Amino acid sequence: MGSHVQPQTRFYLETYGCQMNIADSELVHGVMARAGFRAVERPDDADIVLLNTCAIRENAEERVLGRLSDLARLKSKRPNLRLGLLGCMAQHNRANLVEKAPYLDLVAGPDSYRRLPELIDHSRFDPTVDVRLDRSETYADFAPVSNGSVRAYLSVMRGCDKFCAFCVVPYVRGRERSLPLAAVLDQLKQLARDGTKEVVLLGQTVNAYRDGDSDFGDLLRQCASVEGIERIRFTSPHPSDMTDSVIDAMASELKVQPYLHLPLQSGSDRVLSAMDRGYSVAEYMTLVETLRERIPQLAMSTDIIVGFHGESDSDFEGTLELMRQVRYDSAFTFKYSLREHTKAFARGDTVSEEEKSRRLTEVIRLQQSISLERNRENIGHTYEVLVEGRARRGEGMVSGKTPQFKTAVFPGDPRRSGQNVMVRIESATGHTLMGAAV
Ligand code: 5AD
Ligand code: SF4
Repeated sequence: MGSHVQPQTRFYLETYGCQMNIADSELVHGVMARAGFRAVERPDDADIVLLNTCAIRENAEERVLGRLSDLARLKSKRPNLRLGLLGCMAQHNRANLVEKAPYLDLVAGPDSYRRLPELIDHSRFDPTVDVRLDRSETYADFAPVSNGSVRAYLSVMRGCDKFCAFCVVPYVRGRERSLPLAAVLDQLKQLARDGTKEVVLLGQTVNAYRDGDSDFGDLLRQCASVEGIERIRFTSPHPSDMTDSVIDAMASELKVQPYLHLPLQSGSDRVLSAMDRGYSVAEYMTLVETLRERIPQLAMSTDIIVGFHGESDSDFEGTLELMRQVRYDSAFTFKYSLREHTKAFARGDTVSEEEKSRRLTEVIRLQQSISLERNRENIGHTYEVLVEGRARRGEGMVSGKTPQFKTAVFPGDPRRSGQNVMVRIESATGHTLMGAAV
């Protein structure tokens, strides 16, 4: 009898959405590789195409649906090709998706990745849907992926219990749960052995992290003791969980970098309350003042939604006013998008699409001018830059981040990736600092 060689099933995975999804895709790559699947670079070379998706706003879902219909055409030419949809959009739309997109062979939510090889196997015979959420799944036993890069991302908690009225995350990612502290430290040590210098701790409300008596401040302190890891960052924290313990850790641990993404959403108390954000404008401002007092070098960014249900002209003016007061270094700005399952869904929209666009343009314009001013304030100062590699533009230029998470570009040798270089800033745009090594 001759030996029978089963050709290896090839998969292609495409990722949409946030850092957490990018980290989840690395996890999926690990699951698939261990089960004997082989990753390929293009859908055309694959037996299975997987999309890891985002459901945070309608336009995120529309992008994926557009991509799916392209892939459906590919499948009509190659009937053996299987298509799978993973992640938040899978969870959000569930079995509905197989109706909307009958060419889908597989729909799997964010807590189903452990079972992916079996689900894929089953999908050879029947369209397969697995969107069970699991209160305890943290994938703590899955090895982190460093890819030999300077910076690695590590999910330390999953899910969200905050239930902001506009947000679908608690419904698609399920309840809040943290990895054991020991597991995080093991993963961090492994990353350090693989040459990672900077780690970004991830979670939907990362500072709600808890393992027994240890809170997120403790986690930061413990992570700072891991040798080889030089810089620690995290995203995204929730303002309500910025406890003294967390602020103390940021202020006292040199490895914890002076940068904080602190989502505001709105600068109006009425809107914040309708959003169920759990803080007032005054409380948020007090927090900002405390942070700046304790961490003088701190840079800050934020998330802002315009056009939420009931947002009046004066509510919106409050958002602009708060942005002027805080003077964020950068901001992610969004038009409110009605999401099924959320508390605010039934309230509907009160701000027209045109008005949302007008407000969005205004917050973007304001932020651009503040970002430029902020970056210009860096001119003449010297910052430690952790070199990441060749700059995207400019012959002979390398780039990396300052402690404040600003991109700095300067003439240098890409072989210095992973090294710290003191860079004096000479000029700035709203996005980039330019300078020279000193
Ligand atoms: N519409 C618009 N923006 C949203 N976000 C979350 N849900 C919505 C929504 N329904 C934004 C918030 C959040 C960021 C990740 O996405 O600003 O902080
Ligand atoms: Fe969504 Fe609010 Fe949870 Fe952030 S804290 S993921 S905005 S529900």
